[in-house]
Amino acid sequence: MPEDPIRRKLVIQYAPKLTACGVHLAKGGVRILDGVDLEVESGQFVAVIGPSGAGKSTLLSLLAGLESPDAGLVEKDGVPLVGPGAVAYMPQSDLLLPWRSVVANVSLGLEATGASKREAREKAMRALERFGLEEFARVSPWALSGGMRSRVALLRTALLGRDVLLLDEPFGALDALTRRELQEWLIGVRDELAATIVLVTHDVDEALLLADRVVVLSRRPARVALSLPVELERPRKMAVETTEEFAQLKGRLLEALGIVH
Ligand SMILES: Nc1ncnc2c1ncn2[C@@H]1O[C@H](COP(=O)(O)OP(=O)(O)OP(=O)(O)O)[C@@H](O)[C@H]1O
Ligand SMILES: [Mg+2]
Repeated sequence: MPEDPIRRKLVIQYAPKLTACGVHLAKGGVRILDGVDLEVESGQFVAVIGPSGAGKSTLLSLLAGLESPDAGLVEKDGVPLVGPGAVAYMPQSDLLLPWRSVVANVSLGLEATGASKREAREKAMRALERFGLEEFARVSPWALSGGMRSRVALLRTALLGRDVLLLDEPFGALDALTRRELQEWLIGVRDELAATIVLVTHDVDEALLLADRVVVLSRRPARVALSLPVELERPRKMAVETTEEFAQLKGRLLEALGIVH
């Protein structure tokens, strides 16, 4: 499924803009976010990286409308994001229900949005087919490999049909090879997802491979240490990682993370 430039243009035209402006948040007396500014343009794919405990998941849950800032604004197309439901959000753990089959897990989100059980199942089944997962439809999540679980969880999120997709380390727990496979898969299905996307990751290569822009958060309390446009050619191939341009961008990210000086 190569990226389709015409569809991309449509996505960019209609997908919403996300804004976090001067966002402060403290929990239990601990300052976590310290004036975070983030702008995600229509249809843009932004990756957020930063040290463990920096506040990446916290920022994502604010963008999901699950938490409110102590100060500052979090908006979708200029409207404050309050309460869940306005965006599709995949939390850091995949939350697949072990007692439901794969197809039942995928249809769960749709049922929650008011679709009938039958309608939700049919739609889930079609999606599983389109994403090459149909042979696993009837099995339980515990019978899946880690990579398959991630794919199913991602599909369940994507199927909500929201125009914003927030992904918190969707491939975090996977081995390097499976991770690569799923990154390639995500590059391929990005057009199907037709959304503004924010992905949290620890993996600098993953951020550069997938995103249009990479935002680096500082250590807690988090601020934006760097916002780096990634103008690598699309559709991206894994081979882009061997280019000089990629190495230069990676150098800047590692520097902002304080890993190289
Ligand atoms: N209720 C709380 N009280 C105090 N501190 C909290 C609370 N909840 C979260 N924190 C702290 O907030 C910080 C940010 O947490 P968050 O989960 O957003 O980090 P993260 O960047 O996603 O980390 P990781 O990369 O490990 O997933 C952490 O240092 C965490 O210990
Ligand atoms: Mg996290």
